[in-house]
Amino acid sequence: MRTPLIAANWKMNKTIGEALSFAGTFLDILYSQGGESFPVEIVICPPFTAVPALCATFAGKNVAVGGQNLYWEEKGAFTGEISPVMLRDAGCKYVIVGHSERRRLFAENDEMVAKKVRSALDHGLRPIVCVGETLEERDEGRTFEVCEGQVRKDLSLVKAQEIPSIVIAYEPVWAIGTGKEARPDDAGEVIVHIRETVNQVFGPGTSQNLRVLYGGSVKSSNIRQFMLKEEIDGALVGGASLDPEEFFKIALESKKAKAKN
Ligand code: 13P
Repeated sequence: MRTPLIAANWKMNKTIGEALSFAGTFLDILYSQGGESFPVEIVICPPFTAVPALCATFAGKNVAVGGQNLYWEEKGAFTGEISPVMLRDAGCKYVIVGHSERRRLFAENDEMVAKKVRSALDHGLRPIVCVGETLEERDEGRTFEVCEGQVRKDLSLVKAQEIPSIVIAYEPVWAIGTGKEARPDDAGEVIVHIRETVNQVFGPGTSQNLRVLYGGSVKSSNIRQFMLKEEIDGALVGGASLDPEEFFKIALESKKAKAKN
């Protein structure tokens, strides 16, 4: 049984004060609804500047913190980059790797993503590896091929026994920030294909221990249809994760949907 996971990707949003204000409200709601025993894992990935404050606020609580990126070296002359050692030191448990915005705006390729995944695992961070097709690729009927290719390349430095420490987020690029989420059936099919790919590469049944999330215009009003799918373990949420009430509702709806399964 895989633990459902709802992760917030705040992208380049929130000052330290705004992050602390979110955290206070979010913890109040969470702990009024079961707190420690809440059966959905919650991860918040703020900008780096807010990581230490959030780690301090969530210490001993049922909320983990993640980075939004990392560089694969431990230290050195890499101006503007952040290392896995620093993320761990600050208290992060997770790190997002290969988000489509990084691929598109900052020229990250699969080779770099693979090194980042390797480095995260080597330093005890759980990578949330993002894959997904563009609208053009979807229109050309290449969705499976593109996602399969990304999974094969991005996980090329991973060992089979490390699969349970990895999370894959299937985020169709055309669904990100557009308000147009994928049809749950379509997302489910791609995620099944991702699981099949992982089984081919790492051995039969490996993907039973792999959590795969959906991301792209997730909100409290549409999360249920995704979570009702057995193959979908959670969501990576952008815009709707910036509001503590809305983000909690997404976690709560996820809990209810998985309780039905
Ligand atoms: P939105 O939820 O704002 O569409 O963003 C999704 C995303 O990119 C999460 O990583």
